[in-house]
Amino acid sequence: MLKDKTVVLGITGSIAAYKIANLASMLVKQHADVHVIMTKNATNFIHPITFETLTGNKCLVETFDRNFEFQVEHVSLGERADVMLIAPASANVIAKLAHGIADDMLTTTALAMTAPILVSPAMNTHMYEKKITQENIEKLRDLDMRIIEPANGYLACGTTGVGKMPEPEVLLDAIYGEILRPKTLGGKKIVITAGPTQEAIDPVRYITNHSTGKMGYALARQARYMGADVTLVSGPTALEPPAGVTFVPVVSAKEMYQEVTARTAEDCDAVIMSAAVADYRPTRIAEEKIKKSGDAAVIELERTDDILASLGQQERVPRVNGKKTFLCGFSMETENMLENSKKKLAKKNLDMIVANNLKTAGAGFGVDTNVVTLISRDSDIENGGEEVRVEELPILSKEEVAYEILRRIAKNI
Ligand SMILES: Cc1cc2nc3c(=O)[nH]c(=O)nc-3n(C[C@H](O)[C@H](O)[C@H](O)COP(=O)(O)O)c2cc1C
Repeated sequence: MLKDKTVVLGITGSIAAYKIANLASMLVKQHADVHVIMTKNATNFIHPITFETLTGNKCLVETFDRNFEFQVEHVSLGERADVMLIAPASANVIAKLAHGIADDMLTTTALAMTAPILVSPAMNTHMYEKKITQENIEKLRDLDMRIIEPANGYLACGTTGVGKMPEPEVLLDAIYGEILRPKTLGGKKIVITAGPTQEAIDPVRYITNHSTGKMGYALARQARYMGADVTLVSGPTALEPPAGVTFVPVVSAKEMYQEVTARTAEDCDAVIMSAAVADYRPTRIAEEKIKKSGDAAVIELERTDDILASLGQQERVPRVNGKKTFLCGFSMETENMLENSKKKLAKKNLDMIVANNLKTAGAGFGVDTNVVTLISRDSDIENGGEEVRVEELPILSKEEVAYEILRRIAKNI
């Protein structure tokens, strides 16, 4: 995913330095060109040879290294890099960055950097909470550096508290957020739903479906990478909410209806309903566990509210740019996929529907891939004169499918 991207990793004198070996390896596996710069103190915690072996590039420590090739390395890296991540960032280096001090290779390169700089503070809780450290971090924010909030947890100094460097996966996600996608959804507000809903029968039983939420979470993550302000309304799943999105957990179709309606009432650019919302729920929820009796049981069901149809029927208030909220639905079929999905597009008054057939290999619940057909009514169609446009995408990872959907939505909002 990071082919042709140059990533500079700055490592300082913190016990968390060893974790960056894992991150460097992850980045190399994504085909990034990774350059590591360490402070002299960082080399007490992990040897530069580790990074040289992992990245294939010389690990820079000394500013006045006479064993250079032909460029002034800090300037050249500052111009070539797509992003610089300083992790772990010691209190000392944060203080230097906040004051423009450039007295080693890492801080000199940071000062010469033209690409965005991400900073992941990692330190003992007292050091982190000190007024001066907080002021320095605030200063970095003012200087347009992005701060990756430290986690709360057990610290190497034997205490528990805030100041822990997030895991390499979180740092990788922050790098993706900076450079993976063009920011074509910058400033746009998008509400995405994901996962199944659970409809209670009694206090111990419920009706649900096989949705895992993977598609909706991929949409939320990719929309954030594209710069959107994302709200993810999710039914119960086993997934970690993506970083940087407003996460709204719900259980039932009714709760999902309420949350989506409230969050799309004003100033929403697009709604993407990828949740597998229950169509029916038990008419009554028994207060006590229903006891076994006889050979068969009957549960009476009633319709749940159709969230998409309700949004489609509302007079959608034109937003600041005069456009109405873009509505995108998902349709999972086991037969007559195209025909049924086109009907759903028209009946629910949607702008786009993402259709997939559960019976197609690589599509549907649980798997990391999807095979979708996009059926849309968008501005291109006005020019082409067609009523709907049908576009079949090849088998792609759910992350790529999400990006392809969002790329098209971005052109219409
Ligand atoms: C075992 C050990 C662990 C340390 N961990 C941290 C840390 O996590 N964060 C931090 O700001 N300083 C930590 N320090 C202190 C820094 O290494 C020290 O302030 C040093 O001057 C930082 O140098 P640098 O910013 O040039 O890398 C630690 C020191 C030791 C001895």
